[in-house]
Amino acid sequence: MTLSSPSPSLQNWNAAGYAANAHFVPALGQPVLDLLQLQPGERILDLGCGDGVLTEKLVALGAQVIGIDNSPDMIAAARLRGIDARMMDARSLTFANEFDAVFSNAALHWVNDDPDSPIRGAFRALVSGGRFVGELGGHGCVSAIAVALMVALERRGIPDAPSWIPWYFPTVDEYETRLRRAGFVPQSVQLIPRPTPLPTGMRGWLETFANPFCAALAQNERDDFLDEVTALLKPVLRDSQGRWTADYMRLRFVAIKS
Ligand code: BEZ
Repeated sequence: MTLSSPSPSLQNWNAAGYAANAHFVPALGQPVLDLLQLQPGERILDLGCGDGVLTEKLVALGAQVIGIDNSPDMIAAARLRGIDARMMDARSLTFANEFDAVFSNAALHWVNDDPDSPIRGAFRALVSGGRFVGELGGHGCVSAIAVALMVALERRGIPDAPSWIPWYFPTVDEYETRLRRAGFVPQSVQLIPRPTPLPTGMRGWLETFANPFCAALAQNERDDFLDEVTALLKPVLRDSQGRWTADYMRLRFVAIKS
């Protein structure tokens, strides 16, 4: 099936594929975990907990944690780790005045149709004085990869290729404005380049993170599409020893509900 227009929820999550191709995502979450400055006994909402690898660290530090995610497969994987993980869309959080902190790693960039809604939901979920601490892709993140995906879609006659980009990668100014608009007082908002080695190469990365682009194409076109994207990226993201590195930028922030 070929879709004529993109929808925000085309990303499919598969916990086994994620663990194989993207275990670096929670593994590289330590800096944002450090920013949280967690105290034992604190109530924490993990917004977009995925398979719970990082959530488990919050629990180990003595927090009372609820994780939410909108992928049934990820929720099942998080529950297997003993996490109190609940199916919930980041756009419609249902919590009010009950957490000391809302934490989020590598999830908020998937809400590209309404980036304000999780920020508003985090504000509601926090007690007064509570903190919102997170990391998402920042402006320029995976730009070479996005360009290659768009070029390969255009070569297949897909109109308006940019509309298939499923990610929201804000600038510092833009995200600060959104945080303030929701009522937060930003303490720090930083854009950090983080070239990221890909353990299973570009093909593994694309199979995990680029399925919204594949949704523009018929099933039997997708393999060839991903091969072409990989070939386009080879001269810029693969080194002489065959190691792939993705052009990640991170946006890391701390904001307070005053
Ligand atoms: C991430 O999980 O950090 C990510 C996912 C897709 C594109 C860029 C970054």
